[in-house]
Amino acid sequence: MKTIGVYSIKGGVGKTSSTVNLAYLAAAAGKRTLVWDLDPQGAASFYFRVKPKVKGGGRGLLRGRRRPDDAIKGTDFELLDLLPADFSYRNMDILLEAAKKRPTGQLKRLLKPLSTEYDLVLFDCPPSISLMSENIFRAADALLVPLIPSTLSARTLHQLLEFLRSEDGFGALKVLPFFSMVDTDRAMHSETIDRLSTEHPEILSARIPLAQDVERMGLHRMPLPAYAPANPASGAYRALWDEVANALRA
Ligand SMILES: Nc1ncnc2c1ncn2[C@@H]1O[C@H](COP(=O)(O)OP(=O)(O)O)[C@@H](O)[C@H]1O
Ligand SMILES: [Mg+2]
Repeated sequence: MKTIGVYSIKGGVGKTSSTVNLAYLAAAAGKRTLVWDLDPQGAASFYFRVKPKVKGGGRGLLRGRRRPDDAIKGTDFELLDLLPADFSYRNMDILLEAAKKRPTGQLKRLLKPLSTEYDLVLFDCPPSISLMSENIFRAADALLVPLIPSTLSARTLHQLLEFLRSEDGFGALKVLPFFSMVDTDRAMHSETIDRLSTEHPEILSARIPLAQDVERMGLHRMPLPAYAPANPASGAYRALWDEVANALRA
């Protein structure tokens, strides 16, 4: 089982859209896939038409009193399951702090029993750098980091890399940034892409365009490639999935 955290310190950069679309593409490629919606706002759960509620309570799950299996729901798509969000996740750090043993290893521990059931787990992460994020960094094989090509994104990428370098135990974690919501008509976007790609060769080459069709996922309530497979943005997500799948194999 491979685990990916779709993560950014920033909100509104395309984490949830990417999680939902990549999960769909992974499942369509035959991978038994689980999306774990960790954001109390529950947007990934919304896209999959699942109520944002953990059966038995998110609290019990995070404290290890309940098994994740009990809370997992099927989606409309074959091989694709969802662990819904829960509003109690807004107090996630307090819940984790109360975990008996290591408060940064809780998520990794919760994943263990799922390792024979799934080939891929994608965390849709809330935008923060917190105890929860540390749990994600410890549980994940890779972090997929959407970057809107702006000066601020460069700064948040540096902050993240700096944090990972400064802490022990994140050496094996692959950081896979990619450009998201790219508007090639904006000189600023093209310039930032050129500059950052030189500075950070680890940035993936697939770029997700700024496209209304991606926004329309909220109306369709399903992954973009499920209802518009020929859309250029669907093609971009497919290219992204190919690169991510390759990076995980390496
Ligand atoms: N490539 C894109 N083009 C246009 N709009 C996008 C794109 N990706 C995401 N959006 C829209 O931007 C908003 C934030 O995206 P979302 O994926 O929810 O980001 P995050 O999870 O990082 O907060 C949503 O309204 C979404 O529909
Ligand atoms: Mg989100």
